[in-house]
Amino acid sequence: MKHTLSLYNAVKAQGGHVSFHTPGHKFRCPQIDALANADTTEISATDELYHPEGPILEAEREAAEVFGAREVCFSAGGATLCIQTALAFYAGKRALAERSCHISVVNASALLGIELDFIWGETDADFGFALPLTPEKAEEHLSKGGYSVLVVTSPDYYGLCADLRGIKEVCERYSCDLIIDNSHGSHLPFIYGGDPRRDAIRYGDFIINSLHKTLPVMTGGAVLCVNKDLSKEQIKAKMALFGSTSPSFPVLASIDLGVHYMWENADRYRKTSERVAALAQKIRAVGFRVLDNSEGESLRLCIDTFSVGYTAEETEKILSQAGIYPEIAQDNRLLLLFSPFNGEEDLEKLLAVLSSMEKRPPVSPKPHKSVTPPKRVTSPRDALLSPTEKVPSATSAGRISAETFATCPPGMAVVVAGEEITEEAAAILASHKEYTEVVNR
Ligand SMILES: Cc1ncc(COP(=O)(O)O)c(C=O)c1O
Repeated sequence: MKHTLSLYNAVKAQGGHVSFHTPGHKFRCPQIDALANADTTEISATDELYHPEGPILEAEREAAEVFGAREVCFSAGGATLCIQTALAFYAGKRALAERSCHISVVNASALLGIELDFIWGETDADFGFALPLTPEKAEEHLSKGGYSVLVVTSPDYYGLCADLRGIKEVCERYSCDLIIDNSHGSHLPFIYGGDPRRDAIRYGDFIINSLHKTLPVMTGGAVLCVNKDLSKEQIKAKMALFGSTSPSFPVLASIDLGVHYMWENADRYRKTSERVAALAQKIRAVGFRVLDNSEGESLRLCIDTFSVGYTAEETEKILSQAGIYPEIAQDNRLLLLFSPFNGEEDLEKLLAVLSSMEKRPPVSPKPHKSVTPPKRVTSPRDALLSPTEKVPSATSAGRISAETFATCPPGMAVVVAGEEITEEAAAILASHKEYTEVVNR
C-alpha cells in the first residue's frame, strides 16, 4: 500500500493565505507556532485538566478574573465539550433552545435524557437564516412552565446578537436558568462590557466561549464560564463525563495565551471592529449588500453576493484564486471572520478583488418561506437508540429520522432524530448524502 500522507500534507501546507476563517490567530501568531513542539501530557509539571492543582488551576483562576465569572474551566474539546458539560447539570429535565442552536445542544440533550423543545424563530427575508431570539418569544414559551434551562445562541453564526438582558429577565421571572452559547463572541465582553446584547458573561448562568474562533487560540480551545453557585470540582466532574483523558496541552496552553492576549489587547480588537465597519461601507460602495449587524458581533461580515449577480460559491472561487479564504460560502451568503491578526493589507486585498468583479444584474434570492416545524414522532433519544435502516435520502420524506443531521459549519440541524422527514429536509439531505438512517418500524 502506498501512503500518500494526504492529510498530513494538506494540513502542513496551511498558512500563507489570507484567512477570513477560524482560527483567530490566522496563522500569524508566533506564540502559537511555538506550541507546535510542546506536545505533552498530564505530568506533575503540567497538571491534570479534571483535577487541577498547579498551572491549570492558576490559569483558570486568572481566566475567571479576566472574564469576571465565578468559575472558568478550560476545554480542549471545543465549545461542544462546554455545552455537554453545562447541559449535564440538567440531565432528565426539560430544556428549551432555538431550533437554530448548534447540533451539540441537540446531541447532548439526547444523551442526557433532556427533553428538549425548540423555539422556531423568524427568518431573515434576504439571507434565509433564523433571526435572534427575542424576550417576547422566550416568554411565550417559558410561560407554559416546566423548563429548567433555556439555551440561547448569541451571537449567531452570522453575527446577530439577542437582547440578553431582556431574555435574562424573562428567565428570572420563570425561575429558569440561562445557558448562553457565546461561541462566536468570546471577545465581545471585552470590547462592549455592560452591553445588553454583547456582554454574555453578565447575563448567563453558563456561558460557552469557543475561543479558537476569534482569539489567538488553537482549534479546539474553549472555556466554560459559570456564574451559578457550583464548585470547580462539580463542573470538572461533568466535563470528565465527555472529555478525553488525554487533552491536548498545546491547545490548553493556547487558551492561557489567548485569554492573556485578549486582556492585554482589547484595544486592538476594538480597532479591528472599526476597520471592519469601515470596510463594510467600502464593500457596499462597490455594489454589494452587506448584512447590517451594527448591534452584533463586529468582527464578521456577511455579504449578499446575489446583490451583484454571483453565487457565494462563485465568489469564493474568485477569492481563493487570489489566496483569500472565507469562513463559509453558501447560496448568497459569504461570511468573513476578521481578527487583529488580519493586517490592513488583507482588508485591502479583499476589497480590491471584490471591486474588480464585473458586476452582473442582481439575482433575487429564492423566497425564504418560513419553515413548517416538522412533526416530532418520538424523542431524539428513542430515535437514536432504535433499530434503524438506511434509505435513499431522496426518498426519505415521511420516514422518522434516526439521526440528527447538520452541515458544519454552521452546524444547525436540518433534521433532528425522532422527527418525520419533510420533503424540504429530504431534498437537503439528498444534496449532502446518498443515504439517511431512519427508524426501522
Ligand atoms: C453557535 C455554535 N456553538 C457551538 C459550536 C461548537 O464549537 P466547537 O467547534 O468549538 O466545538 C459552534 C461551532 O461552529 C457554533 O457555531
